[in-house]
Amino acid sequence: MNEVNTILDLSVILPTYNEAENLPIIIHRIEEMDLNCQIVVVDDNSQDKTAEIAERLNSKYGNIIVVRRPGKNGIATAVRDGLLNSESKYVIVMDSDLQHPPEVIPRILNELEKGRELVVASRYVRGGSAEFNIIRKAISKFATALAHMNIQKTEAIKDPLSGFFGFRRDVVKPDQIVSNGYKILLEILVATNTTNIGEVPYRFIKRKRGKSKLGFSEFLKYIKLVLRLSDYQMLKFAFVGLTGALLNLLIMNIVVGHYYQPVVFGAILALEASIVSNFVMNNYWTYRKRASSGTVIKRYVKYNVMSSLGSGIYFSLVLVLTFFGINYMWADVVGILGSFTMNFGGSQGVVWHL
Ligand code: GDD
Ligand code: MN
Repeated sequence: MNEVNTILDLSVILPTYNEAENLPIIIHRIEEMDLNCQIVVVDDNSQDKTAEIAERLNSKYGNIIVVRRPGKNGIATAVRDGLLNSESKYVIVMDSDLQHPPEVIPRILNELEKGRELVVASRYVRGGSAEFNIIRKAISKFATALAHMNIQKTEAIKDPLSGFFGFRRDVVKPDQIVSNGYKILLEILVATNTTNIGEVPYRFIKRKRGKSKLGFSEFLKYIKLVLRLSDYQMLKFAFVGLTGALLNLLIMNIVVGHYYQPVVFGAILALEASIVSNFVMNNYWTYRKRASSGTVIKRYVKYNVMSSLGSGIYFSLVLVLTFFGINYMWADVVGILGSFTMNFGGSQGVVWHL
């Protein structure tokens, strides 16, 4: 503890919206650790007088800054305003509803002092956990997988959606936090260049007092945020896939329907044409901004190897289904869907990847 206390220069940012019951408890628990820090409460005009309570607590402790904002404006901008209204070498962001145990703060700090630029308190590293019901857990896992799949910089972090993290102040500029949603850490990961990131485990506690402000609209906001931060790659990939599928159907129809060639021949031509066209569009459009290793040629080779796995699926489906008397066009549609799944995973994870 002592080594942490001596050189410490920390701001703990606590966004609050109707946390009158929780704030005195969390502040008491932070003060008890004797961390020599300032606490920045950013309140959005809570009706339950959270801000007044914070000011009263400051008369007792003397190290609390209260930022009052006129209306509910989201956690992200609250964190930004907390940054703008504080001064310290390190910053920790956490919820004020006791779901993030303040006792984890010294561990985050310790990692920062050891040289980490960003430290995530993580539910999903060994030793961490979440008191979630099964539905909330599934949503959280799904959301995390979505981030991992779409945003390359999150891959190294087990809990990129954590709302509990710390950083060295010079690593994050306040204007890098631009969304009005919950997932500030995602934005920070994308906006900053730091790769010097640590994770410390913690247990996400069930909320005991007050209400969660996270609803379905936050989930939609989250999807939009992931799409924006990933340069809309998932949508572009799907669109490219659709153009490839149309091209595929067109060629199949011409070769088999008009020139009466065998289905195998139609499928080979249709497939080759769509692979080339998809590769070109993905390389120069979908993944234009994605950091990928290798030259275009190498990527094209990889794309073909990967596509041949997809093609295996495609051919089996088309041939087996037509063998069983299903119309060749329908068999083609099913084949395309099967290979699409394979191609998306391979593109994100292998072809356009570092
Ligand atoms: N100033 C301000 N303005 N504070 C807000 C606002 C707002 O509009 N909305 C919420 N807060 C405060 C709450 O008072 C609480 O201290 C904290 O932000 C988190 O809000 P909750 O409503 O309790 O969020 P949650 O528990 O559902 O979600 C938390 O856990 C997620 C992980 O599952 C957040 O930390 C998320 O960021 C995190 O991803
Ligand atoms: Mn909460």
